[in-house]
Order: sequence, then structure tokens, then C-alpha cells
Amino acid sequence: MTSLEKHLDERDLARSLRADVREGLSATPRRLPPKWFYDARGSRLFEDITRLPEYYPTRTERAILTEHAPEIARLTEAKTLVELGSGSSEKTRLLLDAMLGRGTLGSFVPLDVSESALVEAVDALGLAYPGLSITGVVGDMTRHLRHLPDGDNRVVAFLGGTIGNLVPAERAAFLGELRAALHPGEWLLLGADLVKDPGTLVPAYDDAAGVTAEFNRNVLHVINRELRADFDPLAFEHVAVWDPEREWIEMRLRSVRAQAVRINDLDLDLEFAEGEEIRTEISAKFRRAGLAAELAASGFALRHWWSDPRDWFSLTLAQADPI
Ligand code: AVJ
Repeated sequence: MTSLEKHLDERDLARSLRADVREGLSATPRRLPPKWFYDARGSRLFEDITRLPEYYPTRTERAILTEHAPEIARLTEAKTLVELGSGSSEKTRLLLDAMLGRGTLGSFVPLDVSESALVEAVDALGLAYPGLSITGVVGDMTRHLRHLPDGDNRVVAFLGGTIGNLVPAERAAFLGELRAALHPGEWLLLGADLVKDPGTLVPAYDDAAGVTAEFNRNVLHVINRELRADFDPLAFEHVAVWDPEREWIEMRLRSVRAQAVRINDLDLDLEFAEGEEIRTEISAKFRRAGLAAELAASGFALRHWWSDPRDWFSLTLAQADPI
């Protein structure tokens, strides 16, 4: 059984893209939110990134999940698995298989902003797991957590290190909203990338083949198409820097020359100086103590922490505190 619940449509998305681009590109320094990377081409480029030799997070998280999924199923006795920003379903299947094997799981609820990606995932999983009730929720995980189907013993999986794409204040708001959407005792399974040598971190965001550079510039292609703008994406170079104080990777697009850009649908004319940058993504890296403190501040208790032999990536199982 599969079904779809929509809390976002094309018009909502168009409206928030316009607002994000107007605000972000009018600000000093300029910024754009990373969620606009992921049109069909951007999602394909991200899939390519996950297979790059330099990009360790995906394969490291997959290895941790492969090893510990049965334990996660036993510890949680999950009746419902909710997945935020589900994307490709490969890691999901590890959890579904373990939870179905345990005999507790009845339903799966993937939530994603992209209706097309969600429908594709729901259809494929519906075929693979005919006995499972699957409800796709089209929504924004920073806005629509209150609309998750109610249940008991739900496990919310937020994998891939995407928590790191939020700045600390956004993380606190997100975790607070999630806590409010859960009953005491329900679970959060969180994948988070860990602080490590910048010599490992930076190449993961600046690969030799230039795939991440193309992924980064894709946001300009999206703005050109959706808002009738005239960015020359190749006139912006990809920059990835490690900020040792804030412990995050910052991706930027740097204007290689002085140039003017017009965004027709916003009636906006922009002047970029040579070397001027747009911040397009932060990808924060975590330490166990810091993550435990952020979770505790939002009403979650860290129950289990798994990592890989090199301590490069973490999988955390946290439980919602009693109110
Ligand atoms: C997997 C979405 C969290 O921050 O590592 C990959 C996206 N950005 N390369 C990350 C990304 C540049 C990514 N997330």
C-alpha cells in the first residue's frame, strides 16, 4: 500500500526560491541555501559525488549502517520508520530489512521536498516491500515535521550528514521542532560527519574530477532556468574551505571577473566584483560531546553512538525525553 501526502506544491517552492534568492544575493556577504542544488541534474551530480574516491561520508555511513542495522532494529522495536530527505533509498533498505526481519515494522514514511524523487522512491519501495504501508510526505523538513503521520514507536532517520548543512541556530530550531513532533521515548537516528584532518575534509568537497565544482555551480543553472537569470556559471569558480573555529566546510562560488547579472523574474540587477563570493553551503563536522549537548538541549538523550574504525562518521541513536 502506498500513498502520498502533499504539504508543498510547485507554487510554494517557486515562492521560496524567489525569496531565498532575493534575500541571499542582496545580503553582504552574499549567500544561497544549499537546498536549491537539487534539481534533476543536481541530484544526479550528488549521486556522482557519493561515488568519488575523495567523498568518504556516503560509503562510511553505509558501512556503519550495514553493521548495526539489526541492533538498531532490536533496540528500537520500530513500528514506523520515518526518513527525512530520503533521496536514494539504498541506505533505507538496510534499515527496512532489519526492522522487517525483527517483525515490528508496519509502515515507512519518507519525507522529501522533491515530489518526483519521492514518487520514484515510493513506487520502487512499494514493489520491493509489498506488505509495508508506505506514505510519502512531500514537505520541507524544516517546516512540516508537525504533519508527520502520528504513531507510536516511530524512528526518525536523518542520514547522510545533512544536519551539517544547517547552521547551529537552524539545527537547534530543527531539533526542537522534531522533538515537539515526537512522543516521549520515540527515536532519532542521526548520521553526522565528524571533525578530522582538513587534508581529508577539503578534497571531499573539492574533488580532482571537478564533480563537486559542477554540483556547486548547478545552483546558478537552477536560478537561470527558474527565475530567468543570465548567470554565466563558468564565470564562477568553486571554492571549498575548512573553517577551523566553526568546524565546518564552506562552499562558495567566486566571481572570476567583475560582472553584471540580471534576474528577470525578480527585476534584480546585481554587480559582482572580481573575487566576490557567494556562500552556497556549510557542511558542519561534529564531535561526540558537542552533538550530545545539542541533542540534550533539544530534549533528546543520546543512547548509542556508532562509528567506523577511523572515526570519520557517526551514527547516533537518541531518544525523546519525557516532557
Ligand atoms: C550529503 C547533503 C550532507 O554536506 O556532504 C556533498 C552535500 N555538498 N558535496 C554534504 C554535499 C558537497 C552533503 N550532504
